[in-house]
This record gives sequence, C-alpha cells and structure tokens, in this order.
Amino acid sequence: MEPQLDTQRLPRHIGIIMDGNGRWAAQHGKRRVQGHEAGAASVRAVIKACRELGIEGLSLYAFSTENWRRSKQEVNALFRLLSKYMRKEIEELAQNDVRVRFQGRLDGLPAQARKDVEYCLERTRGNKALSVNVALNYGGRQEIVDAARQIAREVKAGTLQPEEISEDVFARRLYLPEFGDLDLLIRTSGELRVSNFMLWQISYAEIVVTPVLWPDFRKEHLVEAILEFQSRKRRYGGRP
Ligand code: IPE
Ligand code: IPE
Ligand code: MG
Repeated sequence: MEPQLDTQRLPRHIGIIMDGNGRWAAQHGKRRVQGHEAGAASVRAVIKACRELGIEGLSLYAFSTENWRRSKQEVNALFRLLSKYMRKEIEELAQNDVRVRFQGRLDGLPAQARKDVEYCLERTRGNKALSVNVALNYGGRQEIVDAARQIAREVKAGTLQPEEISEDVFARRLYLPEFGDLDLLIRTSGELRVSNFMLWQISYAEIVVTPVLWPDFRKEHLVEAILEFQSRKRRYGGRP
C-alpha cells in the first residue's frame, strides 16, 4: 500500500482523536483500563510510522478537559498508564530524533504526570525529525480562552495595540504555535464529532473518520487515511 503514497504531498501536520478504547475492551470482554492499555501499542506504532513516512508534526488527543467527568478510578488509571508509557518509551523516542511536546493546562495534571512531562520535554528538546504533540488536560475552547487572556495582558501592558491583533498574532498565542494548522484530522471508532480538539487549528483540515477502534489502529490505517487525504481537493474557499 505504501508505494502509492505521494511523498511530495504528505500532510505536514496530522492530528488524531484516539477514540474507542472502551468499546474495544467491551468487545474483548475486558475492563476499560485494559482498552487504554492496548491503546498504548497503537500510539507506539503510529509514532514509528510517522517517523518512517517523514511526517513533521503529529498531535495526539490523550486526555480532554472533559475527561475528568469519568470515574475517579478510570482517570487515575489513565494517568498511571500515561506516566508508565512516558517512562517506558522516552529513551527510544529520544534516540530516534523524536521531539515530544505537550499542550493543555499542564498545571492541572497530577504531580507525577507533571514530572514525567517535564522529563520528556527536557530529554527530547533538541530533536528535529518528528515533533509529537500530546494533548493532556486539553480543550480547544480553553486554548482559545488562554490565548485571549494572554493578548489582554499584552494590551493592558501596552505592548500590543488592539488594531495589531490579527489571525497570525492570535495563532502565535496558542499553546504550541510551531505546529500550525492541522492538515489531516483522523478520528478512530466512527464518531462524527471533534470533541473540543484543536478548534482553531482544524479550520481547513481534511477530516478522516475510520471505524477502526484505537487499540486496533496501525500503520496500514494511517497510510489509508493519508491516501484518502491525498485524494481530496483542498480548496480553501476558492476554485481549483
Ligand atoms: C479514548 O477511548 C481514550 C480517552 C478518551 C482517554 P474511550 O475511553 O473514549 O473509548 P470509548 O469511546 O468509550 O469506546
Ligand atoms: C475525545 O474522546 C477525547 C480523547 C480522545 C482524549 P471522548 O471519548 O472523550 O469524546 P466524546 O465524549 O465521545 O465526545
Ligand atoms: Mg470515547
């Protein structure tokens, strides 16, 4: 399948709403936590695939600001798993020139997760081949509100004039402006919604929804999604 990919027209920045762990667990007669555990293997496979394909940016939705509504037990298990995954994978990622970043209200994370986040940032700071952006305690509206607050502070301080606020100026106050807009947004497990993910950045993203549940998602599915992306005509409101 891979040879059909047009390597000149790869999406620069891919976002993935990693959904369906709970349904996968239910289908396999397992507990929800085991679904999340199985999902970790997909994260690993997808990062490796992006590295091999030469994708520059990958944004992964790992925990939304709304996910706190789940049971305490599930939330704790999710953060335990996240910490475990970060510690287990970081060396290999670091050695493969992958830079790991995080977006979201990170000061709201449990203390251990915050430490692991700091370590991952530090350990991969100089890496260049692929940047992975993990959305943790992330909400798209919160991100926009936080950018607005930053702009308000600058205006109040007199370092920014209201007439200077443009899309570009605004976008540079988002959590990780270096990643830029999403070219391709993938959602697994069939749900047709964006669930508060990167609302600013999906403005002209091509959306691919696959029925595959996240724990079953592998490189072949990523390649399929990129092929679908490459078959689309991006118009940006104009006429091709
Ligand atoms: C995605 O799987 C993981 C997170 C949201 C953290 P879900 O846990 O949402 O799985 P479903 O949607 O219940 O199948
Ligand atoms: C979106 O999935 C959040 C993540 C993948 C981290 P959800 O399962 O939380 O989304 P909804 O509740 O179905 O919209
Ligand atoms: Mg879900």
